Amino acid sequence: MDQKILELTALYEISKAFASSLDLKVASNKVMDILSSVLGMRRGTLTLLHRETGELVIEVAHGLTSEEKKRGHYRVGEGITGKVMATGEPMVVPDIGQEPLFLNRTGARGDIEHENIAFLCMPVKVYGDTIGVLSVDRLFDDQTMLIDDDLRVLTIVAGQIGQAVKVTEMVTQERQRLIDRNQRLEHELQNKFHLRNVVGHDRKMEEVYESVDRVAETRATVLIRGESGTGKELIARAIHYGSARAGAPFIKVNCAAIPESLLESELFGHEKGAFTGAIETRKGRFEQAHEGTLFLDEVGDLPFALQPKFLRVLQEMQFERVGGSSTISVDVRIIAATHRDLERLLRDNMFREDLYYRLNVVPIYIPPLRERIADIPLLIEHFLQRFNTEHGKSVEFSQDAVEVMVQHKWLGNVRELENCLERAVIMTRNKVIDAKGLGGYMNLLLHSDLVVATDIEKQPHDYSLPGSVRAIEREQISEALRECGGVKARAAKLLGLTKRQIGYKIQKYNIE
Ligand SMILES: Nc1ncnc2c1ncn2[C@@H]1O[C@H](COP(=O)(O)OP(=O)(O)OP(=O)(O)O)[C@@H](O)[C@H]1O
Ligand SMILES: [Mg+2]
Repeated sequence: MDQKILELTALYEISKAFASSLDLKVASNKVMDILSSVLGMRRGTLTLLHRETGELVIEVAHGLTSEEKKRGHYRVGEGITGKVMATGEPMVVPDIGQEPLFLNRTGARGDIEHENIAFLCMPVKVYGDTIGVLSVDRLFDDQTMLIDDDLRVLTIVAGQIGQAVKVTEMVTQERQRLIDRNQRLEHELQNKFHLRNVVGHDRKMEEVYESVDRVAETRATVLIRGESGTGKELIARAIHYGSARAGAPFIKVNCAAIPESLLESELFGHEKGAFTGAIETRKGRFEQAHEGTLFLDEVGDLPFALQPKFLRVLQEMQFERVGGSSTISVDVRIIAATHRDLERLLRDNMFREDLYYRLNVVPIYIPPLRERIADIPLLIEHFLQRFNTEHGKSVEFSQDAVEVMVQHKWLGNVRELENCLERAVIMTRNKVIDAKGLGGYMNLLLHSDLVVATDIEKQPHDYSLPGSVRAIEREQISEALRECGGVKARAAKLLGLTKRQIGYKIQKYNIE
């Protein structure tokens, strides 16, 4: 009866050991301890079949020195362990001193002829396949036939080990699958954002590509300038994915999109309880970008109050989380972008001069689309192909439609062109869109141009004729002003207006 209770206790402890660790070695070691302390079994070994060599190798050995352990290699079929492996049947050697098959390979048992040791050997199976062997020594001077009991316990334990091996293999395989997947996705990203997928051969764009190539390898801070929709983010990604940091994260923060009150914790993270709602400690974008690249979009909109802390991070790559006192060091490459006139922000004391110089180490300027019209047909072809595939269509443009697009000013730049083409591909019922048909999709855009060009609040679309006339008038004036560097007299001349007239209209349309 006592023996039965001991067995139950041992089995209970053993299942606890397996439940507490996913690490096969750790769990099996505990199991051996339990077998020896509760059931008095001596020297236990777990040997597993090594897939590549086809040999049985000791995974866990209880009561063996590491020297002895190293000698414990068997071939399948060799010795008792090898035989159990080959047959998948348990074996018992009642007295190893009398057994010629017993190899005593490890040399752990010194005088096997005078110590009465029984050797119990149990196959470990997964889905009916023998994958290893569990064996224990048992002194037998104290009893006659506990061996049957021991075998029963070992059968259960071997079954549990089999389960654990299976789980470990599943976990390892899953891990490997995730690693492979991750590598594949990383590779795809590197391809997708590679410079060769940026469309355009205009000389000014070739200069941009050259700069990208040159800075990618360095860790220099890059400041990308250009109007809205010119491809600043695209270039930022091309730099990251063309650099040695490509395998590490590319983290983007849009300084204009995050409310000022949240931006600090967004960038630098916060400690638990730093403010109401900070339930957990959270890593900021700087930490997330460790060893990778942090892309600060719309850096011109970085709140003035945050700029000093920001400057310090750029200089020292060190900061504290909000509500935290320990200093965190990171290794982050900074790429910043803005469509804002930073020099003007400097003059208006909205942007710190020291931060400006810190960011402006390598400036890259992306010209607006209207200054590289040779690229327009290439971009049309590129987007047309993409949207036709995405929407299962085969839309084409007539020559005159292409000409209209080449002539158009595209104040929203590549993004505007992209949107226009997607809309056209989705909406059209025709196979070929001509200039007249295109008009419909472009007119819509006049209004969105204005929003982009002047940063006014979005207003509901006004499709009435007077509304359209106003929209066109406003756009023409904005554009003329832009071309004349803001000199009203020159813009008025260009438009055939008097100075007074243009002044009135600028006021009326609230043009910056
Ligand atoms: N040369 C190009 N080749 C292909 N696609 C481009 C190119 N330039 C821009 N695009 C596409 O145009 C869109 C706008 O680009 P992106 O977001 O990089 O512009 P941005 O300068 O960051 O604009 P914003 O200032 O409005 O944020 C994206 O969909 C981008 O893929
Ligand atoms: Mg952008």
